[in-house]
Amino acid sequence: MKGIILAGGTGTRLLPCTAIASKQLLPVYDRPMIFYPLNTLVKAGIKDILIIVSPEHAGNYLNLLGSLLERDGINVSFKVQRSPRGLADAYLLAEDFLDGEPSTMILGDNIFQDDFSEAITSFEKGGRVFAVKVPDPERFGVVEFHPETQNVISIEEKPSSPKSDYAIPGIYIFDGRATEIAKGLKPSSRGELEIVDIHKAYLEQNALDVRILEGAWFDTGTHDSLLEASVFAREAKLGDAFAPILNEAILEHNKEIKRHVALKQ
Ligand code: DAU
Repeated sequence: MKGIILAGGTGTRLLPCTAIASKQLLPVYDRPMIFYPLNTLVKAGIKDILIIVSPEHAGNYLNLLGSLLERDGINVSFKVQRSPRGLADAYLLAEDFLDGEPSTMILGDNIFQDDFSEAITSFEKGGRVFAVKVPDPERFGVVEFHPETQNVISIEEKPSSPKSDYAIPGIYIFDGRATEIAKGLKPSSRGELEIVDIHKAYLEQNALDVRILEGAWFDTGTHDSLLEASVFAREAKLGDAFAPILNEAILEHNKEIKRHVALKQ
């Protein structure tokens, strides 16, 4: 199982903060946002992680994460996405990295309370995505379940009249077919390669597993949701529940920076 964090995009809804920094490096309480999805992958034991970034912020990601986990045997590599062509573009950019292997992709601006270790390590084939009940499903990919069988009936991206209250959050577990599926996609009316089109392709093959999430989930794409995520991270002590190797690596990294600061003085 390989891991991908999608951390490109323009972050226009978070301007002016994103005029000087990548959205996924903005703080969520006491650490940069990207540490949360990174933790989800590290906790599940994933050793090969690709971070997809936009060209203007690539240097900051390399600086923060380039050698953070090397002593723990976790290989972090980077790929630049020149323009935000859509979430499914990640599987095209990651083709060589994935080399036909299964992957878990997390959006760099999604913060989860749940631990996905079991869902990731037990994954065998097809696609596995999640569903969360939300008050504003029109902002998300939406999944509709059959009222009796609970089978998935439909999946739509940001529908104006959602058929259910279940949003699909930004964590996707796919087998090695994801890149081939992405190669066959056409841009949507908003000009993006849509992740829901990959879900639909697995659904058509009867190979999509959708699990309901109970824990808190934040898409930190707006100022309000970013603030809510920060408050929640502090109250629920999300940082304390990070994988110990990640927290130790962060402390070590902090010490190293302080040593360099002291040397300069
Ligand atoms: O947050 C969950 C939702 O994420 C899903 O329910 C939707 O199905 C999915 O399309 C997506 O919707 P968003 O409107 O939140 O996507 P957004 O454009 O904000 O992009 C999500 C993250 O991916 C964000 O951190 C920026 C990054 N991104 C986005 C695009 C389009 C890239 O790195 N490259 C891209 O090309």
